[in-house]
Amino acid sequence: MIVLLLLVTLCAHGGKGEESAGAPRSGHVSVVIVGGTGDLAKKYLWQGFFELYVHQVGSGNTFSFYGGGLSPADAATPALFEILKAVSCSKDASEERCALLKEQFLRLARYRQLKTLEDYQALAEHIGRELQQEGITEAGRLFYLSLPAFAYVDVADKINRSCRPTGGPWLRVVLEKPFGHDIRSAEVLATQLEGSLKDEEMYRIDHYLGKQVVAKILPFRVENKKFLDPIWNKHHIERVEIVMKETLDVKGRISFYDQYGVIRDVLQNHLTEVMTLLMMRLPTNLSSSEEILQRKLQIFSSMLPLRKNQAVVGQYQAYQTTVQQETNKTKDHVSRTPTYAGIDFATRKIASMLKPQKVIKQDGDCFTIKTFTTFKNYESLFKIGEEVKEVTKGMDNRTCHTVVNWEDDKLVCVQKGEKKNRGWTHWIHGDELHLELTCEDQVCKQIYKRTL
Ligand SMILES: *[C@@H]1O[C@H](CO)[C@@H](O)[C@H](O)[C@H]1NC(C)=O
Ligand SMILES: *[C@@H]1O[C@H](CO)[C@@H](O)[C@H](O)[C@H]1NC(C)=O
Ligand SMILES: *[C@@H]1O[C@H](CO)[C@@H](O)[C@H](O)[C@H]1NC(C)=O
Ligand SMILES: *[C@@H]1O[C@H](CO)[C@@H](O)[C@H](O)[C@H]1NC(C)=O
Repeated sequence: MIVLLLLVTLCAHGGKGEESAGAPRSGHVSVVIVGGTGDLAKKYLWQGFFELYVHQVGSGNTFSFYGGGLSPADAATPALFEILKAVSCSKDASEERCALLKEQFLRLARYRQLKTLEDYQALAEHIGRELQQEGITEAGRLFYLSLPAFAYVDVADKINRSCRPTGGPWLRVVLEKPFGHDIRSAEVLATQLEGSLKDEEMYRIDHYLGKQVVAKILPFRVENKKFLDPIWNKHHIERVEIVMKETLDVKGRISFYDQYGVIRDVLQNHLTEVMTLLMMRLPTNLSSSEEILQRKLQIFSSMLPLRKNQAVVGQYQAYQTTVQQETNKTKDHVSRTPTYAGIDFATRKIASMLKPQKVIKQDGDCFTIKTFTTFKNYESLFKIGEEVKEVTKGMDNRTCHTVVNWEDDKLVCVQKGEKKNRGWTHWIHGDELHLELTCEDQVCKQIYKRTL
């Protein structure tokens, strides 16, 4: 599963660099996990890199792995090896083969202190020396930044200044969300990183896309296209609900979580990605990251801006106590960070479905105007100059007295009732029907295009 994580995310974002550099070079690959004894590395990354190694070991590439951190090597090396000893093989590997692969992996991995620029320079020299001693060519260097985002800029700068390979080998730097906490800080971060890394060198990944179910959404849609095509549309799908239920609370993560909250933590990234995978038009080429990106962008540009009444946020009860405990605050400290969010949104496509159609019939002085929308249809019947009792529809559900008259070539309707200045004016201009609706001080204008 974790191998899927890495391959999928790397492919999805990374076609470009490889294309411009021609076929990937084979040779030696140095993998550096900066933050190599941290929580993410312990839980996922080393296991993922081990599986990647197992898959790649026969491919003609050779590897070395470095766990980097702020602590000195003598203190952190035992901790790293505790993590590495816990990696496991897939079920289909025999016990002997697994033991052999683990032993090799452990021999290829070591801890490096990566704190100062000199530490990074020393790492680069070490890599260079090993390549020379072994007499092998270098394929590239991969840095995985398993760090809080505030450290990205500094580390990226150190990598650029000391660890950038010269000549043909590639450089790749993987960064995880969150990229700042709002659009401004995200833009600042992006600009600062640009100073140290080329765009094709940066892999901004969302690990959620590596989850098996999420990674399989597009392949599932492609493989079942024949069956899904007839029903994957507005006629058969009323709405799509994307639900993520957490079974764990945020104990132990408050210092991070309380600054971000549920929207930044999972909604604007993980769940939004799932939404695009479900909604986007299928790419013709599943391997083309550029095409997938464009299809995703189409979805984003079709989303209507959210209004206040489309979102509900909340917080689970025990959250306050956990915040007070973990931040050493008193009982009167209140955190307003949401731990629950539900949003309801529509896209422009859906909005355009709501566009009504009108059919107007005229028989002398008698008119019938039928309006069709996806939700309801209505009809109004009137004769010029004759007052009729009418129940107005929509928000303003009242009975009023309506009279329609010609004013030059415009049909003008006046509706007398509780609301002042209520009515409408209809006129035709070329191929268009113009409709101006008024109610008190509000005016709405609609233009219909002739279709028949
Ligand atoms: C990396 O550092 C060099 C100086 O060593 C600098 O000229 C270059 O612009 C930096 N950024 C990139 C993206 O290469
Ligand atoms: C699909 O896209 C990938 C990556 O851009 C490219 O290498 C491949 O040739 C494309 N396949 C087809 C059938 O166009
Ligand atoms: C809270 O207090 C404990 C014990 O005094 C201390 O170890 C911890 O670092 C403090 N946490 C914060 C966020 O100040
Ligand atoms: C509008 O009024 C009609 C008739 O009084 C009633 O049946 C209907 O439920 C009302 N609709 C709304 C949305 O209030």
